[in-house]
Amino acid sequence: MNAVAAASKIKRPFDVARIRADFPILSRTIYDKPLVFLDSAASAQKPRTVIDVLSRTYENEYANIHRGVYYLSQKTTDAFEAARETARRLLNARETREIVFVRGGTEAINLVAQSWGPTNLKAGDEVVLTELEHHSNIVPWQLLRDRTGIVIRAIPVDETGALDLGAYAKILNPRTKLVAVTHCSNVTGTVPPVKEITRMAHAQGALVLVDGCQSAPRLTVDVQDLDCDFYVVTGHKLYGPSGTGFLYGKGELLDAMPPYQGGGGMIRRVSFEKTEYAEVPHRFEAGTPNIAGTIGLAAAMDYVMDLGLDAIERHEAKVLDYAHKRLSEINSVRIVGTAKEKASILSFNIGEVHPHDVGTILDREGVAVRVGHHCAQPLMDKLGLVATVRASFGVYNTMEDVDALCAAVQKVQRFFG
Ligand code: ALA
Repeated sequence: MNAVAAASKIKRPFDVARIRADFPILSRTIYDKPLVFLDSAASAQKPRTVIDVLSRTYENEYANIHRGVYYLSQKTTDAFEAARETARRLLNARETREIVFVRGGTEAINLVAQSWGPTNLKAGDEVVLTELEHHSNIVPWQLLRDRTGIVIRAIPVDETGALDLGAYAKILNPRTKLVAVTHCSNVTGTVPPVKEITRMAHAQGALVLVDGCQSAPRLTVDVQDLDCDFYVVTGHKLYGPSGTGFLYGKGELLDAMPPYQGGGGMIRRVSFEKTEYAEVPHRFEAGTPNIAGTIGLAAAMDYVMDLGLDAIERHEAKVLDYAHKRLSEINSVRIVGTAKEKASILSFNIGEVHPHDVGTILDREGVAVRVGHHCAQPLMDKLGLVATVRASFGVYNTMEDVDALCAAVQKVQRFFG
């Protein structure tokens, strides 16, 4: 390895002050207070490199892709296809053709439900979800149930927010055809043991879809090691543009799946009598995609890989631990979700104060959190809650952010007596 290549492999130290300087929005104030952004699980802020790539693409090197013989179209096509290689690298997929670009996590799951589903499932077959799932990993399967008569079952959570694997073992049976599980709960931060869940599903002959929307920005993901069949990533939580994302699917599975949407770009030959479809992944990419957004997503993926997902995980774990400790010291706070394996998402309630009131008071202090059911109503029902306050951390969050959150929470406590 020459000196330049060796230098490029040396990771920069994880310097939060420098990382914060990469995110222009973090230097603004809200109601004359410094912005304390604790809502990365809803959508992460964007580093300068992503913003620059978007404007450079539109200013300099933009045209439609896969269609033009001219310079700009070819350059844009090259950048778009290079993003596929970046996504392959992020997940350690075997081949770039296993990466299908979509509009986000929701579209990726709908793609599998509507393409793989009717081709492979019949009435009475079972799809296993978990009580942790976001609505985007519930409703697509219910739509499929309406079409096919499949049965949906759910792995229960215990009071800490961890999945009950004993119950899962009992749920699995020869009718189980797919297990669709989150890799990180957007409410409790629980990180289920997806490798073990996959092993158990495969032993029963079922496939596994992992919803990685919250894990891809926070954890090292290796789809070959997990051996999952599908893995779902959204771009906007990964510091990339909204309206971007991708589905990983094992090549042989994607090859056997029919298109999910029809249109330009996904065909080999069309006549009124018959259409031959393109190979994967293009078969699943009908119409003009979010071209600049996907190129911007590649810049975001390069950004997190350059920081190192292992370093991100370590940094966010420290911030999460500190937040758990500090919030637990405030006597009216009840933390929701205390599973042993957790990533940097922390839900809580303050006495009987409605989370919307908490969110409003925190906002006046410059602290941005999400409040509500977080698009996970079955989990709320199970936990006997209507809503929570949720602080979620990203690469740019600091212990000082946690201190600001706690000071604002104490203000709520004082206000409501
Ligand atoms: N799924 C996103 C969240 O958890 C929007 O906030």
